[in-house]
Amino acid sequence: MSRKIEKIGVFTSGGDSPGMNAAIRAVVRSSAFWERECMGIYRGYDGMITGDIVPLNARSVNNIINRGGTFLKSARCPEFRTAEGRKKAYKQLQVAGINALVVIGGDGSLTGADIFHGEYGIPFIGIPGTIDNDIFGTRTTLGFDTALNTVVEAIDKIRDTASSHHRLFFVEVMGRDVGHIALNAGVGAGAEEILIPEEDLGLDRLLQSLERSRRRGKSSSIVVVAEGDRTTGKNVYELKDYVEKNLPEYDVRVSVLGHMQRGGAPSCFDRVLASRMGVKAVEALIDGKSNLMVGIHDKEMILTPVKEAIKGQTKIDKELIRVSDIMTL
Ligand code: ADP
Ligand code: F6P
Repeated sequence: MSRKIEKIGVFTSGGDSPGMNAAIRAVVRSSAFWERECMGIYRGYDGMITGDIVPLNARSVNNIINRGGTFLKSARCPEFRTAEGRKKAYKQLQVAGINALVVIGGDGSLTGADIFHGEYGIPFIGIPGTIDNDIFGTRTTLGFDTALNTVVEAIDKIRDTASSHHRLFFVEVMGRDVGHIALNAGVGAGAEEILIPEEDLGLDRLLQSLERSRRRGKSSSIVVVAEGDRTTGKNVYELKDYVEKNLPEYDVRVSVLGHMQRGGAPSCFDRVLASRMGVKAVEALIDGKSNLMVGIHDKEMILTPVKEAIKGQTKIDKELIRVSDIMTL
C-alpha cells in the first residue's frame, strides 16, 4: 500500500530554463487543488541539504507564469553526489514533513533523484527542464521552444549587420552535446550552414558550400555552430581563421550567443507545456507513482521510467537535416 502523499516538495535543479516558474506554479496549484501541502525547496539539492525550504500556496505563485528563470533558484550541487550529502537532504525532508518530490531539471537532476529514491524511498516525478532537448521520453523539453525563439531573434539581428557589410558570421549556440537547438534554430533563421555533433559536415564541404553560396550571389552568410560540435575539429574562432585563410574574399566574424539562450519570458508553448507537466506530475504522485518523468508525445502527456529517460538518446531529426540541405540552395 503506497503511503498517502501529504506534502510535496518542488525544486528546480541544474541548468535553468524558461518555463520553470510556470512549472512550479502548476505543481503548487495542482497540489492545492488536490488538498495537498506544497513546499518550495530553494537552489535545488543545495537547498535540500541546508533546509532552505518554504511553504507555498496557490497565491505564492501569482504573476510568475510569464517570468524566465526560476524564483526557487537553481544550483549544481556536488555535495548531493555524496552519500553524506544525500543523508543530510533526507533529514531535512523529514524535518519539513515532505514525503514526495517533483524535480524540475535535466538528466543530471533526474539521476540524482533516482539515486536518492533508491536510498530513502522518497517518491518523485521528474519534469524535463532544460533548453537542450536532450532527454529521452519527451518530444520537447521545457524551455527548448523559448530558446529556439531567442536564437532565431538573435540571428535575425546578426543577419542585418552581416548583410550590411557582406560578412560571414559563425554563430555558436548552446545545446551541450546535442545539436537540436542549432538545427531547428538554424533552419528557422535561414542559416546557410549548420554544424552539429550528429552530422559530420567536414571542413571541405563547408568551404564548398560557402563557395557555392558566394557564386550564387549570396554576399553574406550565417553558419550556426552547436557548442558541442567536434566534427570539424575546430571551435568557432578557429573556423573563422580557417575560412579567412582558405576563402580570403570572406570577411568573417564570430558571435557566441551564450547564456541569453537560457533567459527570457517563456513562449506560450512552454507556458502551456509547463502547466500540463505540473498537473501530470502531481497527479502521478497522488496515484502512487514514482521514478517517472513527464513528457509530451503526439500532444499527449506520457510518463517514462527515469532510468530510460536518462540513458536514452534523443535522435536528431534526419528529415529536418534534409530540409536544411535543400533550403541552402
Ligand atoms: P542538469 O540537471 O541540468 O543535467 P547537472 O548535470 O549539473 O544539471 O545536475 C544537477 C545536479 O543534480 C548536480 O549538481 C547534482 O547535485 C545532481 N546530480 C547529478 N548527477 C548526479 C549523480 N550521479 N548522483 C547524485 N547527484 C547527481
Ligand atoms: O544544459 C543547459 C546548458 O545551457 C547547456 O546548453 C550549456 O552547455 C550548459 O547548460 C552551460 O552550463 P552552465 O550554466 O553551468 O554554464
